[in-house]
Amino acid sequence: MDKELEGAEVAEAQIAVHWKEEEYYYPSAKFIAQANAADPAILERFREENFPECFREYADLLTWDQYWHTTLDTSNAPFWKWFVGGKLNASYNCVDRHLAKNRNKAAFIWVPEPESEETQTITYQELYARVNEFAALLQDFCQVKSGDRITFHMPMVPDLPVAMLACARLGVIHSEVFGGFSGAACGDRIVDSGSHILITMDAYYRNGELIDHKVKADQAIERAAENGVKIDKVLVWQRYPGKYSSPTPMVEGRDYFVEDLLPEYRGRRVAPVSMPAEAPLFLMYTSGTTARPKGCQHSTGGYLSYVAGTSKYYLDIHPEDTYWCLADIGWITGHSYIVYGPLVLGTTSVMYEGVPTYPDAGRAWRIAERLGVNIFHTAPTTIRMLRKAGPDEPQKYGYHFKLMTTVGEPIEPEVWRWYYHVVGKGEAAIIDTWWQTENGGFLGSTLPALQPMKPGSCGPGVLGIYPVIYDEEGKMVEAGSGRAGNICIRNPWPGIFETVWGQPERYVQTYYAKYCKNKNSKDWHDWPYFAGDGATQAADGYFRILGRVDDVINVAGHRLGTKELESAALTVEEVAEAAAVPVMDELRGRAVEMYVALKPNYAASSEVSEKVRTAVETLIGKIARPKNVWIVPDMPKTRSGKIMRRVIAGISNFTDVGDTSTLANPEIVEAIRQRVQKEKVARGDLPRELSKQELEEIRRFGRAE
Ligand code: WT7
Repeated sequence: MDKELEGAEVAEAQIAVHWKEEEYYYPSAKFIAQANAADPAILERFREENFPECFREYADLLTWDQYWHTTLDTSNAPFWKWFVGGKLNASYNCVDRHLAKNRNKAAFIWVPEPESEETQTITYQELYARVNEFAALLQDFCQVKSGDRITFHMPMVPDLPVAMLACARLGVIHSEVFGGFSGAACGDRIVDSGSHILITMDAYYRNGELIDHKVKADQAIERAAENGVKIDKVLVWQRYPGKYSSPTPMVEGRDYFVEDLLPEYRGRRVAPVSMPAEAPLFLMYTSGTTARPKGCQHSTGGYLSYVAGTSKYYLDIHPEDTYWCLADIGWITGHSYIVYGPLVLGTTSVMYEGVPTYPDAGRAWRIAERLGVNIFHTAPTTIRMLRKAGPDEPQKYGYHFKLMTTVGEPIEPEVWRWYYHVVGKGEAAIIDTWWQTENGGFLGSTLPALQPMKPGSCGPGVLGIYPVIYDEEGKMVEAGSGRAGNICIRNPWPGIFETVWGQPERYVQTYYAKYCKNKNSKDWHDWPYFAGDGATQAADGYFRILGRVDDVINVAGHRLGTKELESAALTVEEVAEAAAVPVMDELRGRAVEMYVALKPNYAASSEVSEKVRTAVETLIGKIARPKNVWIVPDMPKTRSGKIMRRVIAGISNFTDVGDTSTLANPEIVEAIRQRVQKEKVARGDLPRELSKQELEEIRRFGRAE
């Protein structure tokens, strides 16, 4: 046997874990003194023996028109119903109920990307007026009624939450498609949801450019029409009210400027429609360009309770905080933790239009300083980007965060430490929140005042969530065993999606079939939720997420998580970003190839490549030593900032890189391809013949679309 293959003693079905345990970090006394959850009794209240009644505490954060009679109804498992019999309105809970005491407190502060443009403050009173007027417009002009769907294709402007809340006021189901998505992707989602109204915008700023957005509406409508769904009306908001900023013509009798219609509804008020707790509030599609997208249907009462509770205890939101989440509202993070959660709690939520490093690496910190942001919520990809662009920038600005969040993918401990010491200035507590579009809110994290932080681990299950790791055979993988498996949640919770819109069988199949103990059971204990992530649990109960179970690289039967490979590369001083992909190899079946981007002021060199190889080898093992390390100027990334590993994998394996239309930087693909493949050809490092299955594996590698 090849020397390098020694140590591959882990069986095929398991994922080897080589990560070393990290040390705890503790929040400051100052943070603890003001935290919403500082009394350990809260952990007792949410113990499993108190489930499901423990979630009453979350629901009681809301104003109900009618209180519910059944906390959890499992009679049609796994289609859970929460707070049955209860009635409420989401827009009332986010807006109206704050008027009595806080009408002139800021609900949103919107920061346009051009620094020369002024920030816009929208008080709760102003939000109330705008939501009502827009709801009146939807009701009268668009003739929509509760249960109808409306598709939005909106960028990060306040008109987006206004429109969401106006729908919620009427019981209309909103379906926001991320603004960066193509017209075709939007069209497919229009078809799937059966919407006849599209709400969009003429243009928005991104990276210094005023982008024509209206053009995508035309493409979306054409795509939808080809697939049998007709859009009757398009409502177009204007980036500069009163002025049309897109070169794309308006279509007579179909397209309307919102600003032209609104005067007619000035001062109108619309009574909030009292909705059953289980009525759908919105659809949020999970990405997928190969299969039909999945419209995750989120409920009104359960969802809103869950985002309220988790925002209060985990994000530690108090009404007097200034909270900034950098996600896009087009993702679930934005729905739950820019709009619904913060507004239910009556805080001030900051919205930023553009790119956090525009026009320079200090922009995010200037916004934080100027607005007095004290809670900062972002993703590892943004943290890496900020570190790459300006590793020493934060100290130049006088902001102070009490809490920071990381969400969206596992964070490399190296990056976590920079976030903690440099961005957080050693003052801010960090929560690493693991969850998914399907889940409504956090699943794994730490209560910031009660449970210490551990870099790279999200923490234990959050309040009322009881996770478990199963192996392929459904046997429990014990905490502290050093083994990884499939993380599942044993119980339902109020934020869980209700179904996949129009595809109930897919809902059951994808999320519940794998470990279901009895398909006829009405007992929730028989229906663990399969998250599709690999994870390991340390002896202290903390989970470390390894990424999607389909994101592993199998080297000689040794399944390596891409994330731990990348974390190892990130320990090299010069490295800002890393992506690991499989390359088909004669000897080992697959070998690891690594792509890295460097921090500013470091030049590519063979020494750096060698350092990366050595780091991976020493931290993970010889088996993982990258066959090649490619130093690239940037990674191909989606508009949400996820590295598209399948594109890189296609380059490494000389296969088709596939659709690159959803990339933020498609031009980088050809540049990387030419360099890497030229070098490989020169070295005689040519690919072997690939089986159909291997081609498929590369085509699907990684989850980001
Ligand atoms: C996938 C879900 C949650 C909203 C944003 C992403 C990965 C998410 C973490 C985290 C490790 C994470 C998982 C998950 N993920 N948060 N804190 N640590 N991995 O929503 O697009 O539905 O993606 O993102 O793999 O399954 P999404």
